[in-house]
Amino acid sequence: MTEGFLLADPPVASLDDFLARGGCVGLTRAGELDPDQIVQEVNLAGLRGRGGAGFRCGVKWTSVQRGGERDHYVVCNAAEGEPATFKDRALLRANPYQVVEGLVDRRARRRRGLPGREGQFRAGAPRLSRAVDEMAAAGLLAGLSLRVVTGPEEYLFGEEKALLEVIEGNDPLPRWMPPYLHGLFATAPQLAWESHGLEAGHHGEHDSNPTLVNNAETLANVPHILANGAEWFRSMGTAESPGTVICTVVGDVERPASSRSRWVPRCATCLSVAVRPARVGRCAACSPGSPIRC
Ligand SMILES: Cc1cc2nc3c(=O)[nH]c(=O)nc-3n(C[C@H](O)[C@H](O)[C@H](O)COP(=O)(O)O)c2cc1C
Repeated sequence: MTEGFLLADPPVASLDDFLARGGCVGLTRAGELDPDQIVQEVNLAGLRGRGGAGFRCGVKWTSVQRGGERDHYVVCNAAEGEPATFKDRALLRANPYQVVEGLVDRRARRRRGLPGREGQFRAGAPRLSRAVDEMAAAGLLAGLSLRVVTGPEEYLFGEEKALLEVIEGNDPLPRWMPPYLHGLFATAPQLAWESHGLEAGHHGEHDSNPTLVNNAETLANVPHILANGAEWFRSMGTAESPGTVICTVVGDVERPASSRSRWVPRCATCLSVAVRPARVGRCAACSPGSPIRC
């Protein structure tokens, strides 16, 4: 395993290719564990969300799990509307299978959505849909139903509550309460203009459907943690932020691709992947979209 374990090169071409490269080991391990043990392993690994805020993944998973209710949902956020950012698209093009594997590892009891952004994401969505179809046909989704949802151009679409609105067929405007309290297709709590009728299959009860929203890169790390263990993950990055992070470098670069680096990378480390070493000089200006050091 190297620092580049998330961005397969060359890209994974099919499910057979994925399995030949060691895919689904994390899924097999997840099948041997109960949901609490999966959360514990992710907690031990110290995985933080890669969608922006760096929230502790295991803490969020526990909140959703403790939410009770009959139906839970898991949503993968691949909206990626941040200008000049394409790390999630690079991830899904290189290996959509590991993201699906991460979703299935986090076994929810019902439906899941896998959103992508309309327009910017057209090249990635078919690959993702194909990965979902192939894994479903091979019986790897544990009977779960996954749906790929494309959304509008609006930046706000990436905000997790707006994302849920889009999956429900509405405009990308954030709802009032967080997804673990007011999830997908929730019929409770009833919040005036946000309330809606019972979902098919519900019989007179109102449910909040606690929903987990995680970034695509966050979920992609999960099978690797389950396959290789929390200690392996902690051998990279820092004590507070273990693992690696995918950085996007744009501009006048030789390799206009996302690079991967240890979490809280140095600016020069990211640049050295994208441009020839001789061209990496003193950093004149840096506009980071995530924790980075110059
Ligand atoms: C305006 C706005 C846009 C956002 N866009 C994205 C996005 O494109 N992708 C993403 O994963 N998170 C985005 N987020 C953060 C999400 O609301 C949410 O915190 C994240 O998907 C949680 O995943 P994580 O815990 O794995 O990081 C955005 C937040 C805001 C306020």
